[in-house]
Amino acid sequence: MSILDNRPGLAHEVGQVAEVAGYLWQKGWAERNGGNITVNITEHIDDAIRAMPAISEPKPIGMTLPNIKGCYFYCKGTNKRMRDLARWPMDNGSVIRILDDCAHYEIIADKPVAPTSELPSHLAVHNYLIGKGSNYKASVHTHPIELVALSHCKKYLEKDVASRLLWSMIPETKAFCPRGLGIIPYKLPSSNELAEATIKELGDYDVTLWEKHGVFAVDTDVMAAFDQIDVLNKSALIYIQARNMGFEPDGMSDEQMREMTVAFNLPK
Ligand code: 13P
Ligand code: ZN
Repeated sequence: MSILDNRPGLAHEVGQVAEVAGYLWQKGWAERNGGNITVNITEHIDDAIRAMPAISEPKPIGMTLPNIKGCYFYCKGTNKRMRDLARWPMDNGSVIRILDDCAHYEIIADKPVAPTSELPSHLAVHNYLIGKGSNYKASVHTHPIELVALSHCKKYLEKDVASRLLWSMIPETKAFCPRGLGIIPYKLPSSNELAEATIKELGDYDVTLWEKHGVFAVDTDVMAAFDQIDVLNKSALIYIQARNMGFEPDGMSDEQMREMTVAFNLPK
């Protein structure tokens, strides 16, 4: 028996996570256990699920997050591989419930798979999104090679330098990642400091670059969050290919960018 049985909405949601996990592995962005995904699945929760007993002890989140009280999340398991999750999402991830103290969670299904070590960042972000009335439900952390490579150079870590460069490589990048790429200076993986810095940047960006580590993206669903990372990384690849051919790419001109921004009704 699985919590997904006879629940097509929930099964679809978890199926989308599995599909994206497969893409992350195929792209080479998910070495070993690299990356993690969480989805707020509270809208799919019925009374039978609410009545399900915990299959773990209550565990501390490490912070108090009032907006996610009683919410449910599907979470990738810590130390689990995306390539395994792609085939067996309920063996490599689990469903958790946030307890009424807003500071602990318990695992309820299918197996006691401990959630990702980046849970503080993911849950703090969901708490922030709910607080601002956002319809975003999914967060994706992954290690996209070319974007991480850019983050090793100070020049690209200055505010909006990477955004403007990546937008100018191909018109669609700004169209499909209109808020650009926020930059987060290096912080210890899985730390509360990393979570707090991520929330700050998500006020202005849907995708943030964790210096020398990876990206963290949010969107309405897991596929949309993946797409935003994918278009940015595609632009990074084009930039790097041009450099490998021995020249600095021109990039779209300011006039071309302006024309695009107006035609697609994008934010300045
Ligand atoms: P987990 O296996 O705990 O999800 O960690 C992977 C990772 O990318 C940490 O930043
Ligand atoms: Zn990581």
